[in-house]
Amino acid sequence: MSEKNFVYVGVNDREIDLFEGMYDVPNGMAYNSYVIRGEKTAVMDTVDGRFVEKWLDNVADALDGKAADYLIVQHMEPDHSAGIEAFAKKYPDAKIVGNTKTFAMLGEYFDGLDLEGRKVVVKEGDSLDLGGHKLRFVFAPMVHWPEVMFTFDESAGVLYSADAFGKFGAKGTDEDWACEARRYYFGIVGKYGVQVQSVLKKAAALDIKTICPLHGEILTDNLGYYVGLYDTWSAYKPEAEGVTIAYTSVYGHTAEAVMLLKAELEKTGVKVPLFDLARCDMSEAVEDAFKYGKIVLATTTYNGEIFPFMRTFISALVERGYKNRTVAFIENGTWAPMAQKVMRGMLEGCKELKFAENNVTLHAAMKDGDKSAIKALAEELK
Ligand code: FEO
Repeated sequence: MSEKNFVYVGVNDREIDLFEGMYDVPNGMAYNSYVIRGEKTAVMDTVDGRFVEKWLDNVADALDGKAADYLIVQHMEPDHSAGIEAFAKKYPDAKIVGNTKTFAMLGEYFDGLDLEGRKVVVKEGDSLDLGGHKLRFVFAPMVHWPEVMFTFDESAGVLYSADAFGKFGAKGTDEDWACEARRYYFGIVGKYGVQVQSVLKKAAALDIKTICPLHGEILTDNLGYYVGLYDTWSAYKPEAEGVTIAYTSVYGHTAEAVMLLKAELEKTGVKVPLFDLARCDMSEAVEDAFKYGKIVLATTTYNGEIFPFMRTFISALVERGYKNRTVAFIENGTWAPMAQKVMRGMLEGCKELKFAENNVTLHAAMKDGDKSAIKALAEELK
């Protein structure tokens, strides 16, 4: 795909089963890379190791006989850096641009790669003039690794934003941007809201007309929409009204209770995404836990603890700095219910959580009294 200010040289990955070894990507994944052609040329990042040959062909086509002057390394995670050595060998006169952290990591991945005399080490705010395209480096530490930097093409108003504003799904997939960008954000970058907020403040000072992330789509219109969502997500603010229910159930009794709660809430018009944590894609449940302002955690007491899928789920929330939400519990235990105490304990370090008052304790099967308790909880959460 050709654009006025850059040429797209990335690749779509439709073979991948799990992105980062964990995330289901039914519509594949894109590893984006771009060539900027001024009087000098710059290649923005590389791609995943399985696609380096194809990417090198794309780069050669985009250069169209021009020399490759610079490879700008915005992020050293291998989905973007795997082609550095092959590029350096194919284009021995090209310089490699990064910061001190970039080159420290580069040495770890490419032991013995000699870049003597070819490294351009940049600092925050430094610029690189290609002639016709003046690039400025905007550091974005921990979005999503410490060496990450954005690059702003001041001449064209193009922000090359590394992982930020990326999404799951091959480029060109016809799907809602926010859905897969949100799942990507909370899965991968969600822990680093403070750092995202800080780079958004820097970005606010730039006159951005186009955003070129390393995954997903190139964003050209209505940029306020995308930036606004990133602001909401990174500030840990709920994006929408609703009550997420995440549950596990061994013999169906806890499931019966959450179905009743869902029905009671929906009667009053509340949106209720429901996740069986043993069977769902857990990254979807994490996404909705952050999207909505209220959550119900329902699980069984198990070995004096909680059911393992619930432990994994709550750990995922805690790791990502879950906060500023209302949390309710439904616990089940035939002889010694412990689940509520364990779940609450896991959330202890989370800030600005409000715990519901009408939490529910089931002893095995749901009885009439439990139904009344669930209705009371619905009343509190609606
Ligand atoms: Fe797409 Fe953090 O790598």
